[in-house]
Amino acid sequence: MATANDNQATHSTQPDGSLTITDNRTGKSYEVEISQGAIKASDLLQIRTIDDEPGLTTYDPGFVNTASCKSAITYIDGEHGILEYRGYPIEQLAEGASFLEVAYLLIKGSLPTKAEYEQWVHEITFHTYVHENVRGFMQGFRYDAHPMGMLMASVGALSTFYPESNNIDDPDNRHIQIIRMIAKMPTLGAWAFRHAQGKPYIYPDNDLGYTANFLSMLFKMSEQRYAPDERLVKALDTLFILHADHEQNCSTNAVRSVGSSHVDPYSSVAAGIGALYGPLHGGANEAVLRMLRRIGKAENIPDFIKGVKAGEERLMGFGHRVYKNYDPRAKIIKKACDDVFEVTGTNPLLDIAVELEKIALEDEYFVKRRLYPNVDFYSGLIYEALAFPPEMFTVLFAIGRTPGWLAQWVELTEDKEQKIARPKQIYTGDRRLDFIPSEQRWS
Ligand code: CMC
Repeated sequence: MATANDNQATHSTQPDGSLTITDNRTGKSYEVEISQGAIKASDLLQIRTIDDEPGLTTYDPGFVNTASCKSAITYIDGEHGILEYRGYPIEQLAEGASFLEVAYLLIKGSLPTKAEYEQWVHEITFHTYVHENVRGFMQGFRYDAHPMGMLMASVGALSTFYPESNNIDDPDNRHIQIIRMIAKMPTLGAWAFRHAQGKPYIYPDNDLGYTANFLSMLFKMSEQRYAPDERLVKALDTLFILHADHEQNCSTNAVRSVGSSHVDPYSSVAAGIGALYGPLHGGANEAVLRMLRRIGKAENIPDFIKGVKAGEERLMGFGHRVYKNYDPRAKIIKKACDDVFEVTGTNPLLDIAVELEKIALEDEYFVKRRLYPNVDFYSGLIYEALAFPPEMFTVLFAIGRTPGWLAQWVELTEDKEQKIARPKQIYTGDRRLDFIPSEQRWS
């Protein structure tokens, strides 16, 4: 069993070697250092044909092969289906840790002692309430407002309630804003849900745990105290853990990019929520449910697969930019499905999903392209069983991802090598046109 100290030696910043580049335009050669498997993009600037032209740059839409930071938070090996938070395998954390323990691990860098954990849970529990004016403006949204839009706006608005949060260089100040954000996210998410249902907002119950309190704010009606089934609490807590971080994905990149301007963390996280809102990022689990419903029964699977192979559509919940193996999160979610359905009764769509997975994993089309189930293949089934409407799926993702966003934000603020995000462009437009005033252009 490796410990954090054993691993120190493997993270040396000494150069691994060097790369020699010959510019065939000029015949000149350059040597650039390779360190931790990367070259510095700024080392390419010395490569130019004439002295006053800008140096060579790289063109990388979507940052497919550009590292924007050094990070010690999350490790992914997509070839082998490995995901680790701070070095701990996701399987072990999902099995044995609570979501708040994982949140501490991600943000503080190591697992908490008993005293640290109790203090952490205490602080988060007693910051679950929001200012009454937050409730007021949330009630001002239209009756059919999407909960992600409400969440994004409300988190952004928290910066106006805590203006001191822009003092990002003070670790104590950062700490309290982190506590507030993790604590209030379920309150805001649950109220966005109640709003769409036209039901009264439920205040936090601080005698309940983090996830149980969230379920209470979502589903409590006239009973004295909402008492969720512990197996459902555990399943949702596990889903939060599985979504807690995933290194430099679109929303994390948004948090870091906005945070690099040194704005307060609420504004940065609101940007992350905006990125997550998009269907290419947070919305695939909903598409999986629609697909399973359309397939309808197991006998229709071969025809559906035929259509996928003919390029007519995609098998949603399959394939990943990084994982070329089974997404480790999908395995854990599949198991959580069984636990949830034990309580809620089975969903016939699960049988279709299991059969679909079996057929796809044996089919040459999927095998050749290394397409495996991803985190979204089974998660929508659980969310539906827990009585969430599809618009809430991404809100659940956002609550789970909040500690990851904040861990990445802290790392950014403490990283002396970081600068304000400012990518380059390759300009393809016109130049030096002569402006003709409108009275002449339009005459
Ligand atoms: N069904 C059928 N074919 C697929 C699929 C799929 N789900 N995914 C990829 N392919 C094929 C694709 O057609 C291409 O084939 P060919 O080489 O013949 O043109 C090949 O596999 C490579 O696909 P790609 O689009 O170049 O791969 P990518 O890395 O750009 O896309 C992806 C990754 C996740 C967008 C894609 O696999 C996809 O659209 N999957 C379905 C949507 C989905 O489940 N998204 C959730 C992703 S996990 C969320 C998270 O981690 O946050």
